[in-house]
Amino acid sequence: MRNVTKDNITDVFRSYMADDMAPRTREVMGALVQHLHDFARETQLTHEEWRQGIAFLEGCAAIETEDRHEFVLASDVLGLSSLVDMLHSSPAATSSSVLGPFHVSGAPPLPVGGDMKRDFGGPVLLAEGVIRDPEGNPIAGAELDIWQTAPNGLYASQDEAQDTFSFHGLMTVGDDGRYAFTTVKPVEYTVPTDGPVGDILRACGRHPWRPSHLHFIVKAPGYRTLVTEIFPDDDPYLDQDTVFGVRDDLVMSYEEKPASDFPDGMALSGKIDAPFLAVTFDVVLAKD
Ligand code: BEZ
Ligand code: FE
Repeated sequence: MRNVTKDNITDVFRSYMADDMAPRTREVMGALVQHLHDFARETQLTHEEWRQGIAFLEGCAAIETEDRHEFVLASDVLGLSSLVDMLHSSPAATSSSVLGPFHVSGAPPLPVGGDMKRDFGGPVLLAEGVIRDPEGNPIAGAELDIWQTAPNGLYASQDEAQDTFSFHGLMTVGDDGRYAFTTVKPVEYTVPTDGPVGDILRACGRHPWRPSHLHFIVKAPGYRTLVTEIFPDDDPYLDQDTVFGVRDDLVMSYEEKPASDFPDGMALSGKIDAPFLAVTFDVVLAKD
């Protein structure tokens, strides 16, 4: 009989794995258990702390729904989602950033030049740019899935006052690779704090704020799908995003322009009578 001890239990775990198991599963499970065991040994984890950890996981499961992804949120505020993003971001492309839990698939088509602001109040933002390959050529027919919060800081899925696809749009660019749309200037907002993840933030003395941003998923045949978001350079939370999503190349500048500079060919052309904000941001996709 082999005596299981606190020092050999990790090796014993490894010895229980079958010789013919998938090699990647062996690598990931072996490393996961190694780090879990090292964590418990290093911190001398107590029964009470172990119980709190289990209660945290149970609490996440208890409030998990189609619209509420507490496990993803936990991964986000622990920096794991961003770390996985950075491990696999292509250096030839625009950086990826967290998907977050509020994207709704199946958004209605938004034509190039279309408007997501509708009747919502707040400063008009005109966002435009070109979807490019790593050599700088436009990618004809690329698809841009766009989403953001309403001016109240809530996504459509969090807010009964908004319809399902409010501030969501799916744009297919033409041969010039150019996208353009109007919206309301995004606002900073807090991640949900009414669940177990909120307890972790409070226990760590952390705030729940994210800098304001626009989310994009950009797809084109032959290219790696990019999940990302872009942030204005004057946002007070730029250096303290609670989900660690900000990268240098995702920071952009708004330029305030007079109403007379609003371009033709947009859904809101001829309807702008006050200064508006404009941003140009090109997105680069890596080849598959
Ligand atoms: C978001 O940007 O939508 C988001 C990302 C991570 C956690 C919560 C929200
Ligand atoms: Fe967001």
